[in-house]
Amino acid sequence: MVCAGKIFEEIINDQFSIINYGVPAIAGTLFKTMKFSWKKIKKPIVGLSPMADYTDSAFCLMCRSFGADIVYREMVSADAIVYENKKTLEMAKFDEEERPIILQIFGKDPEIMARATRILEKKYKPDGIDINMGCPAKKIVGSFNGASLMRDAKLAGDIVRAVKRAVKVPVSVKTRLGWEKPNEILRFAPVLERAGADAIAIHGRTKAQGYSGKANWEMIRRVSKKLKIPVLINGDIVDAETFQKAIEVSGADGALIGRGALGHPWIFQEIKTSGFPTPDSKELRKIILEHAKLHIKEHHELITFRKHLVYYVKGFTGAKKLRGMLVKVNDLSDLKKIFE
Ligand SMILES: Cc1cc2nc3c(=O)[nH]c(=O)nc-3n(C[C@H](O)[C@H](O)[C@H](O)COP(=O)(O)O)c2cc1C
Repeated sequence: MVCAGKIFEEIINDQFSIINYGVPAIAGTLFKTMKFSWKKIKKPIVGLSPMADYTDSAFCLMCRSFGADIVYREMVSADAIVYENKKTLEMAKFDEEERPIILQIFGKDPEIMARATRILEKKYKPDGIDINMGCPAKKIVGSFNGASLMRDAKLAGDIVRAVKRAVKVPVSVKTRLGWEKPNEILRFAPVLERAGADAIAIHGRTKAQGYSGKANWEMIRRVSKKLKIPVLINGDIVDAETFQKAIEVSGADGALIGRGALGHPWIFQEIKTSGFPTPDSKELRKIILEHAKLHIKEHHELITFRKHLVYYVKGFTGAKKLRGMLVKVNDLSDLKKIFE
């Protein structure tokens, strides 16, 4: 696999040689020998939030190469892991350069969740396991997975306890402010902490809100004050300014960035290095090509890369015409032709 460190070096050498980016090129390799700890990781943490269909190995490598402190892979079903579903197991596979990496699972049965995490730990040795208690998608909550667990704090606590007993790595939970009301988190989060969760990431919206309205960072401040474990704020962080503001308002230990990283994996470096220049069109082409190559390496095709391409050109003058071409890209030569 093309290693993220290598991409990073190339980008630096070729394009941004005047800027000292810092660490990420070799961090993954060094990390292998260290045990990940939510308490010890340098704060404030700037991490990549899990996004189904987007946070695959290729995208995580891109984000790590631009300085993401930690990356979460998209959720996988605990049931499917236990049934040893080949495709699901394949989805959880990662490259060493992605470390520190968190694998996220969803499910509702404590015993199955425990078995699934044991399988993942044994097979892949991730740096941490995260439990999805925030996904609002109908097919997920319909079977009492994801955000539904906020409606049954006892079950949520049982799941955390079972998973904690099953694995040695840290166990975190990603959740929302509540099912219906934003202050539900004030009672829910302490249950997770008492059950042994090592960290909690909170998307500042309720399940009822879905993705509408604005993330409520104030409520995350209120819940952070009640907890001893690290809290990661999530929702509506799209640049260095919103990151700074979110941390200030919430007092959180770090943040997870989701949509703000799509077509914009250098957001992590923007947050860490003030004055980081926005890539010009030549640099952007190089970033897209590197991402595309990693995508092919992982998925053996480029058709599923079209969704990333659309994000890369969002906001461009003439984006509509460009999008029309990008959504027809089948392989690298199509992509290169468009660039030319
Ligand atoms: C396309 C997409 C897929 C997502 N998949 C997951 C997922 O697998 N697990 C999860 O916990 N959250 C998932 N989320 C939620 C994000 O991780 C994040 O909580 C949410 O987008 C708010 O953060 P943002 O404003 O930075 O995007 C997903 C969000 C999007 C847009």
